[in-house]
Amino acid sequence: MRLDRLLANSGLGTRSTVRDKISHGSVMVNGAVVKDSSFHVKETDSITIDGVEINCQTKLYYLFDKPDGVLTAMEDKRLPCVADYIPDELKSKKLSPVGRLDYHTSGLLIITNDGELSHRLQSPKYEVPKIYLVTYRGLPWTSDEITTVASGFQIRDKGYSEDIAPAELKVIDESSDEFSHAYLTLREGKTHEVRRIFAHFNKEVVELRRIDLAGIRISEDTDSCGAIRPLTADELNILLEATGLKQSSL
Ligand code: URA
Repeated sequence: MRLDRLLANSGLGTRSTVRDKISHGSVMVNGAVVKDSSFHVKETDSITIDGVEINCQTKLYYLFDKPDGVLTAMEDKRLPCVADYIPDELKSKKLSPVGRLDYHTSGLLIITNDGELSHRLQSPKYEVPKIYLVTYRGLPWTSDEITTVASGFQIRDKGYSEDIAPAELKVIDESSDEFSHAYLTLREGKTHEVRRIFAHFNKEVVELRRIDLAGIRISEDTDSCGAIRPLTADELNILLEATGLKQSSL
């Protein structure tokens, strides 16, 4: 396949923007600069743009920093949704978000058309760690409460008992009369799980941001909210290895 077609098909820009990058010498194929857009490449070739290896498969993988106040959906008639942030040239690629963040949660959301990876990232079987930065109000955590979170416990906030899997709580700072902050690492993905865990211990979540998925980390501050970019080859490998779709190269 032509180099410009492969890059455009991989969601790295329109045909004309990728041709510009190629003619400026930003693109290397198997370690050599290629300035000819019609150069023939295979999906298995190693291709870099500005030194960063890119993933050239027909399956597409994006990292989106979801802002607070955006619905995790590809269509909504009334509210801003993830689809509003997908570039036009990708609209036909059948992309969808992996799992969901609440309307008022910001942070890391993977967007892909790889159904198997999406399924595995959401399955409790693979225990893919997700780290949330939680801003909350309430009394300081006791060591007993932190141990209960670490051991897993039962919750009855919906009128029936549900198991909450072991999770790791790391308090950053605590205040009885102002906002407190903590990291919570979950390895399953029940709906509203962070808010429900905090409510169970009489704490109110006032801001929630997912900052890490399987070791892919984004900034803790919200300056990058709304940004969407392709996953790097290294980031994709992290997800494939975390879900058993690829053997670790270590
Ligand atoms: N837990 C929550 O409570 N909300 C989210 O958006 C994600 C995890």
